[in-house]
Amino acid sequence: MTVHLTGNFEIKGNGMMIVPVAASTLEAQLGAAAALSGISLAQLSRDFQGKAGEKLMFYPASADGFSGQFILAGLGETADPQPLRQAVREAVQARPEIASVWVDLRLLLPENRPEQLTALVSAAVEGCLLGDYRVGRFKTADPGKAEAGERQFTLLVDASQLSTARIAARRGEVLAGAQRRVMDLVNAPSNQKTPEMLSDIARALGKSCGFSTTLLSREAMETLGLGGLLAVNQGSTLPPAFIIMEYRPKGKSAQNLPHIGLVGKGVTFDTGGISLKPSDNLQYLKSDMAGGAVVIATMEAAARLSLPLQLTGIVPATDNMPDGAALNPGDVIHTYSGQTVEVIDTDAEGRLILADGLAYLKKHFDPEIMIDLATLTGAAVISLGSEAAALFSNSDALAGSLAVAGEHSGERVWRLPLFDGYSKAIDSAIADVKNYGGKAAGAATAAKFLEKFIDNHPAWAHLDIAGMVLAESGGAPGRVATGYGVRLLTVYLEGLGGKKV
Ligand code: BES
Ligand code: ZN
Ligand code: ZN
Repeated sequence: MTVHLTGNFEIKGNGMMIVPVAASTLEAQLGAAAALSGISLAQLSRDFQGKAGEKLMFYPASADGFSGQFILAGLGETADPQPLRQAVREAVQARPEIASVWVDLRLLLPENRPEQLTALVSAAVEGCLLGDYRVGRFKTADPGKAEAGERQFTLLVDASQLSTARIAARRGEVLAGAQRRVMDLVNAPSNQKTPEMLSDIARALGKSCGFSTTLLSREAMETLGLGGLLAVNQGSTLPPAFIIMEYRPKGKSAQNLPHIGLVGKGVTFDTGGISLKPSDNLQYLKSDMAGGAVVIATMEAAARLSLPLQLTGIVPATDNMPDGAALNPGDVIHTYSGQTVEVIDTDAEGRLILADGLAYLKKHFDPEIMIDLATLTGAAVISLGSEAAALFSNSDALAGSLAVAGEHSGERVWRLPLFDGYSKAIDSAIADVKNYGGKAAGAATAAKFLEKFIDNHPAWAHLDIAGMVLAESGGAPGRVATGYGVRLLTVYLEGLGGKKV
């Protein structure tokens, strides 16, 4: 799979030409399409208005040497990155057998607005590479489709915009690559992504992209007292993992750069443990490590883009299994922070491993910003569905920046409150706190639980992404990974601009 850019307008051969059209550029683009197709402008304007999601296909009558199809892809009112990404993605995904794909951005891209140009070119590249994603990695044959990696994508831009577009296209490749990494990891079944396998993947990525990886052994976890992670792992036949990743830019004095810490829930399969979940749709609980996947892939993106910041990522990983040795409801455990937890429900396991991840991050790294991501509660899905992740934060500034990054990346977040009153629900009679506060405000009481493990850090955000990680894709039956989160975080990190926060 390769992406090219060209300012050379001569197109030869067969393939597909995607022409994204915004209402603001409709007239000029329909004029060009009419000339190419031999269809009258009046007819074309009746059939195509450039609305978001709208597509119109035709074969050109007069394009020199080009015998492929043209697809006008509507973006809505203005040329914005998210509809462009989506339109290109849909067009590419709809025809997996077409090996040569062009995207004509010439009439769409603004003049003299390099930031907007960058965002649009990047989004078009992301659309190509996300549209080319295949979920059938475990199929032994995938007939009738261009072999994965065989397709070629070429973006047409004005010759004067080539140099800016080249940098933007590379950013798009990095972002889409990281998002596809999350999709691969989340789509993988639990027997292909044990905690040990996740550790290996993180280590290999660190080597190839440029971040360091420290993997704690079980003995080290026991000595340190990572009691939350070890408790959840008690019922498992597989050892837990505690993955610590550090990206530090080369050649700059790191002290002057902002330091961001990320923690991601890495539950490779969540049966609920002794508080066993019902078996309907249980297969989807392989996605319970999505937060961890996003943290790993964000390390990759930050390192590959050489972002001017220090980034530390922590992924506590284990499955959550019922067993004779498993944690029981009512058990009291000692977490890394020193606080004791009464485990009311063994299915509220994510917060137990995140408690250790957050406390470890604070104690050993004390970054200026701490962000955790987790498929933490069904309650977040009840509140917001799949339109936005639930955001909880003790910092208005951080919450605001994440909301802006959500709008820019197309991966939205919506803030919910961390009222002190929610703490009451998780008061325990016999331990410092309990891990389940009842159904009311379930996402908020879970966030309140996590807050007890950040040791009064002033700028922490928790993203409950439970509703965002899987969706019907149209391309395959059932729900598949969206890759949500890595674009959100990368855009947030880029937005810091290398400045201390
Ligand atoms: N991983 C689940 C949350 C979840 C459920 C994510 C479905 C995605 C889809 C989490 O560990 C969990 O089981 N949460 C419980 C918490 C409850 C027992 C306090 C829930 O939300 O029901
Ligand atoms: Zn659970
Ligand atoms: Zn879970």
